[in-house]
Amino acid sequence: MFSLKIDKIIKHSETISTLFFNSRLKSYPGQFIMLNLPEYEEIPLSLSSPYSVTVKAVGETTEALIKIKAGERVGIRGPFGRPFSFTDKKALLVAGGIGAAPLYYLHDYLSARGADVTVLFGARTSDELVWKDKFLNAEFSTDDGSEGFKGNVVELMKEKDLTNYDRIYVCGPEAMIKGAFYHLKEENLLDITEFSLERYMRCGIGLCGSCVLEDGSRVCADGPVFSGEDLDGWI
Ligand SMILES: Cc1cc2nc3c(=O)[nH]c(=O)nc-3n(C[C@H](O)[C@H](O)[C@H](O)COP(=O)(O)OP(=O)(O)OC[C@H]3O[C@@H](n4cnc5c(N)ncnc54)[C@H](O)[C@@H]3O)c2cc1C
Ligand code: FES
Repeated sequence: MFSLKIDKIIKHSETISTLFFNSRLKSYPGQFIMLNLPEYEEIPLSLSSPYSVTVKAVGETTEALIKIKAGERVGIRGPFGRPFSFTDKKALLVAGGIGAAPLYYLHDYLSARGADVTVLFGARTSDELVWKDKFLNAEFSTDDGSEGFKGNVVELMKEKDLTNYDRIYVCGPEAMIKGAFYHLKEENLLDITEFSLERYMRCGIGLCGSCVLEDGSRVCADGPVFSGEDLDGWI
């Protein structure tokens, strides 16, 4: 484990903040770190850029993390895990809630390498549409209709012609992953789709077994990014 200083914090809403480190992490979009705050449980967080994480407060550690001050230090292991694959052609990014964090990194990475990137980003309310102004070509959905399409991001995705994309990338809560998976399966597009999954993690490196999926693979070491074909048959 090593430690990094928090250089800057952007507070997006009451419950969501981005923490910027004083140093860039050698990483790829889709990878995660195990972050350690003294006296709290170590937790997995996706990188939202090579030098940041974007955190939503849902429990003890994440509540403490969004209250951290610039200048404080955090412990880090990683980056770990299988990243998203690369395309320099047409990419569709489908993000639900805080699932936008790794896709924000992917958006910048692919755009910088010449890909034509479209984003569909859904959240409960417009407050939770983190980074929405930074996506170059994006459509939004909110459950309460406070911004964009009224409904969830899978419903928005069902309105689109998905056949002219080279790669589709999906990240969000479990119910959204399942909804997207079944639609993309029906459309015969699982072979070009990747999903980033979350499970409870302890070691982060494939040893403890706490993140094992129904098919026996480990989210930390075999994922967190899985192809649509990897998930077919058990999700
Ligand atoms: C690979 C990976 C990447 C992640 N990236 C991010 C990210 O970029 N930003 C972010 O805010 N969060 C991310 N998470 C989720 C984050 O790790 C959890 O929110 C955090 O561990 C909760 O810790 P806590 O002590 O605050 O809450 P706890 O008290 O431990 O849990 C609060 C609630 O969240 C649920 N929960 C805890 N851990 C998970 C989990 N791994 N998956 C689903 N539900 C969980 C619990 O069941 C409980 O209902 C990621 C998780 C994984 C596995
Ligand atoms: S977190 Fe220990 S095996 Fe994945």
